[in-house]
Amino acid sequence: MGKEWTVHNPGGSRRVIVTKQLPGNRWLDILVAADCTVEVCESDDVLSVDEITERIGDHCDGAIGQLTEDWNAELFAALKAAGGSAYSNYAVGYNNVDVAGATASGIPVGNTPGVLTETTAEMAAALTLSAGRRVVEADRFMRAGNYHGWLPTMYMGQRFHGKTVGIIGCGRIGAAYGRMMVEGFKMNLVYFDLYANENLEAFVKDYSELLVAHGEAPVTATRLDTIEDVMRTADVVSIHTVLDESTHHLVNAERLALMKDDAILINSSRGPVVDEVALVEHCKTHPEFKAGLDVFEDEPAMKPGLNELDNVTIVPHIASATTWTRQGMATLAAANVAGILQGHPLWTGDDVLPFLDGDFPPYAPSIVNAADLGIN
Ligand code: DGY
Repeated sequence: MGKEWTVHNPGGSRRVIVTKQLPGNRWLDILVAADCTVEVCESDDVLSVDEITERIGDHCDGAIGQLTEDWNAELFAALKAAGGSAYSNYAVGYNNVDVAGATASGIPVGNTPGVLTETTAEMAAALTLSAGRRVVEADRFMRAGNYHGWLPTMYMGQRFHGKTVGIIGCGRIGAAYGRMMVEGFKMNLVYFDLYANENLEAFVKDYSELLVAHGEAPVTATRLDTIEDVMRTADVVSIHTVLDESTHHLVNAERLALMKDDAILINSSRGPVVDEVALVEHCKTHPEFKAGLDVFEDEPAMKPGLNELDNVTIVPHIASATTWTRQGMATLAAANVAGILQGHPLWTGDDVLPFLDGDFPPYAPSIVNAADLGIN
């Protein structure tokens, strides 16, 4: 049976399809102000390439799609053939998008950076604490009516204070998470990234001086040469890379084996960055080891055995799920599409906050293939 679609502003001179309901109203106001008729799919099911192609039809100016959909070259060719000239992913990550295919069809691809940073880092921190202090295990124990009195050895977990946090992929989100763990728990930080994060290193150095001035122990931030060094050194390792060919199964059985027996692994980036079968095996054979996962290799499925492990905390890809962030993502996705359709230039500001309140800036906030398409 066909999916239900809601049509907003039916008299608009442009047609934009949106493959899922998005939170808030600002995104819709932006598209309506750009004279778009906006068609929103009401179904929670993931739309297939065929279903999206059918909805694009023979006249469609732009689209906002989801990270769960396969925006392949065929789909961009269909959008182009329908007269389309703008696409935005409702996500900062765009591993579901064939950007080269979009570029070949001349379609700009937008994404939504700058509104997920702290929100996603906060979830990575929540998973870290939850895994290390066994919060979910203990919650299940309480609900099962198993608490019959305080005991000295009940649900002992990890102390974070003064230990070492490791970050793989130290861009915006990785650095925000790192700062939370350094500032909150006075952890030392090690990281692996192709580039040095000089701002983060400078911040930790200044923060360390402040701590010392207050009679506390110093903290450090050190870039290590290899992923292996981070895996060996850190008590907590959090993954914040993009997913591409170079990061697929970046955390595999060999690298897990390098980690301390009671270490914690956190993944809030993309599922396939971790070899989930290897992780299940590692967690089975290392009961003191803990993992906190927001993302899964074959989402929404989990690899066999994962959901039976007490030493794993699992949540359904909700790291960016705060109202502010999800509404902000919708606003940026709409501003990308509306900006391109109206011929606006690319935003070059330091942050995207001006898009979130007040008048809409006449810019497209973030287009990942802008350089290739000569958009500036
Ligand atoms: C993204 O934007 O890439 C996130 O995974 C969505 O939460």
